[in-house]
Amino acid sequence: VSFLKNAWYVAAWGREVPTEKLLPRILLGEPVVFFRDEKGAVAGIEDRCPHRFAPLHEGTLEGGQVRCRYHGLEFNGAGACVRNPHGNGAIPSAARVKSYRVVEKDLIVWVWMSDESAADESLIPDFSFLTSVPDTARNTGYLPTAANYQLLADNIMDLSHVDYLHPTTLGGGAMTRSRPEVTESGTQVRIKWTVKDDVVPPSFAHHMPDPNAKADQTTQVVWYPPGYMNLSTSVEVADGQDICTNNLHLMTPETEERTHYFFANTRNFVQEDGEFNRMLDTILINVFSEEDKPMVEAQQRNMGTSDLFSLRPVLLACDGGAVRARRTLETLIANEQAMRAQP
Ligand code: FES
Ligand SMILES: [Fe+2]
Repeated sequence: VSFLKNAWYVAAWGREVPTEKLLPRILLGEPVVFFRDEKGAVAGIEDRCPHRFAPLHEGTLEGGQVRCRYHGLEFNGAGACVRNPHGNGAIPSAARVKSYRVVEKDLIVWVWMSDESAADESLIPDFSFLTSVPDTARNTGYLPTAANYQLLADNIMDLSHVDYLHPTTLGGGAMTRSRPEVTESGTQVRIKWTVKDDVVPPSFAHHMPDPNAKADQTTQVVWYPPGYMNLSTSVEVADGQDICTNNLHLMTPETEERTHYFFANTRNFVQEDGEFNRMLDTILINVFSEEDKPMVEAQQRNMGTSDLFSLRPVLLACDGGAVRARRTLETLIANEQAMRAQP
């Protein structure tokens, strides 16, 4: 199993970790339990008691300490055992669990999955646009998906699929007609689809002065390793006036065959209307859960554990971005493993 280890991963939305609740989540095959410490900061520790390996998330959380449900050992956010109710109460030195470096930023709980000493907060992508809009102009969601995270990334890196998989909401045919332009800077891969005077996707058409009018449109995806995508769309409604959305599609591997899919959407129009926001939320969740998720899960079932390229996939003009992102990640993982192999 090869994942990029020296990387920040999205563990949860901050709202998924309320005070006094334990959130279990398997990340890169490792069971982790997240909770808030007594100061309200999110902590993440191994979800496996070192006594008889009970899942700690089945225990209770009090004052920022987790008590194992089985025999009552208590652990803090640093993974140290702070109470042993047995014998003379002495704490055995082996009574500790792994703790992870966790940072809450831009509504997201980020976790560093390898040695804490290498964790550099400045490497966390800047998604502050999420908090620069009113709450009624933002949706955030979470969709556990039974497919490899790179299949979910491919889905966003090749947006021509919207014309076929989402024809009544997001696709109007224009993405297939446009020529995606792929560029790389550092470890980022950027794809831009430029559409001139073409059919507007159904979900945008309602917001046009004339819903049947054609318009210029720009769509851009920026991919960051190991699997984060910032997708922005812009449709010109009048001279120099655009309606825009800014979206995140964040893929964290649960295992090789399962993904924690986090998504977010913000917009620069109808920003103050809570009713509209809820409607949009419902549309997005429906599209992702009824259309994308079943498709990538079906791909996963067809592919099993085979590597994509080993199956010799047919390559199309729309594949450029996805292939570059996969190659970049492959190189990063190979470099990391070579470094580790050095004495
Ligand atoms: S398994 Fe946790 S205290 Fe025994
Ligand atoms: Fe989709």
